[in-house]
Amino acid sequence: MRFVRFITAAAALTVVGVVLPAQALAQATAPAKKPPVLIHTTEDRANCMMCHSGKMQGLPAAPADHAERPNESCAFCHAADAAIQTKEPKAIPHALEGQANCLMCHSGKMANIPAPPAESHLDKGINDSKYCGYCHKVTS
Ligand code: HEC
Ligand code: HEC
Ligand code: HEC
Ligand code: HEC
Repeated sequence: MRFVRFITAAAALTVVGVVLPAQALAQATAPAKKPPVLIHTTEDRANCMMCHSGKMQGLPAAPADHAERPNESCAFCHAADAAIQTKEPKAIPHALEGQANCLMCHSGKMANIPAPPAESHLDKGINDSKYCGYCHKVTS
């Protein structure tokens, strides 16, 4: 009995000592989940939340963190050619207090402050500071 218990304990230690940290590391370094690409036409389907609010049976519901997102924002992430499908949005390296007007500084007009690339932002309708925090998070 003792011997068996010893073996079990050793096996458990192996699990704790080797397997778990590897898993934890994978979780810590894994990139955020990519938004699923839209698989249906958007023609006559502009009111995305009519179907994806969770109130319609059988239709995939948008996750809870989507509650405040307007319909015009859905394609920012779910369009096949959205930048976020292939690139990681950079973290915000500064505090947000008093900095809510992102575009005041990140307009390209201020020296040394990077502007969002037009082809992945302005050209896609990302034209208001209220949207920036959907993708750019403060460095933790
Ligand atoms: C008339 C209802 C309806 C409207 C409006 C609608 N959808 Fe959908 N959507 C569906 C259904 C049903 C599915 C399941 C796949 C299918 O059958 O096409 C789906 C699937 C999706 C998926 C894929 C989910 C997955 O699990 O991969 C995304 C993302 C999505 N829709 C986003 C949108 C966006 C963004 C809009 C607005 C531009 C929108 N939908 C408008 C009915 C709708
Ligand atoms: C900032 C990026 C972003 C925006 C904007 C966005 N989504 Fe999403 N969406 C995601 C991500 C990421 C997921 C996957 C989350 C997960 O699976 O945990 C997701 C998941 C979904 C799903 C669930 C698919 C499934 O199979 O369960 C639906 C439906 C959806 N979104 C619809 C919408 C609609 C409608 C809008 C606009 C009102 C919208 N999204 C706006 C990033 C976004
Ligand atoms: C008062 C001006 C100002 C405001 C307002 C501001 N930023 Fe910044 N931001 C900067 C400066 C300056 C930098 C350069 C790096 C630094 O601060 O370390 C920067 C850097 C960044 C970066 C990193 C860019 C890179 O290439 O590494 C991101 C992302 C960013 N800001 C997003 C935002 C978002 C989102 C908002 C709104 C919530 C915002 N910023 C508001 C001045 C501002
Ligand atoms: C739907 C997701 C999304 C939204 C919303 C968004 N961004 Fe981005 N942003 C990205 C991605 C992805 C990149 C990297 C790809 C690229 O450079 O085109 C990026 C790049 C940037 C960069 C360039 C950093 C560098 O490397 O020089 C800046 C600055 C920036 N964003 C600021 C903003 C501001 C300000 C807003 C709000 C007006 C905003 N972003 C809204 C996804 C987003």
